Amino acid sequence: MDDDIEQILISEADLTRRVRGLGAEITAASPGAEQLLCVGLLKGSVIFMADLIRAISRPVAIDFIAVSSYGASTQTSGVVRMLKDLEGDISRSHVVLVEDIVDSGLTLAYVLDLLRRRNPLSLRVCALLNKPERRESQVPIDFLGFDIPNAFVVGYGLDYAESYRNLPYIGVLKPAVYGR
Ligand code: IMP
Ligand code: MG
Repeated sequence: MDDDIEQILISEADLTRRVRGLGAEITAASPGAEQLLCVGLLKGSVIFMADLIRAISRPVAIDFIAVSSYGASTQTSGVVRMLKDLEGDISRSHVVLVEDIVDSGLTLAYVLDLLRRRNPLSLRVCALLNKPERRESQVPIDFLGFDIPNAFVVGYGLDYAESYRNLPYIGVLKPAVYGR
């Protein structure tokens, strides 16, 4: 698995440190007694979300949404389809949408629009990674882990064709791998 990685972009130690920082930021920015709800976008956000909520030192609930935008390709199709919706009502929650990576921004724009129409108390975005060069749809990121260059990355939840999610770091995939 590691042989398919060209370069480690963000080490396990750097991920741990930054995710703890994000948890502290979210805690500080969520002072009220109302419910804080972290909504993870499946499946890429799962590992990040598991670490993130343990770095939040106040009560927090979780839920998940699944949409599809890519299939097995590394390019965005622009088509977003809802695969799994939230379980509960969010009108009494401060929602933080948790994303693995913001690339074109099309997925995030679609999901934000959908959640906004359900009138949460507030709606913020926490993304581990951001590729600013690739942005097509302007979306706000309230809590950001790292800006990264325009390369296809895997690990820490991010996949290529459902593989590599269990790598403990963020690495750049060798282009030869998606040429196979
Ligand atoms: P967007 O709609 O173009 O912003 O794409 C967002 C989604 O595409 C992310 O949630 C990821 O699942 C996937 N994605 C974008 N870039 C990468 C990457 O470099 N590696 C793995 N998945 C990616
Ligand atoms: Mg994906």
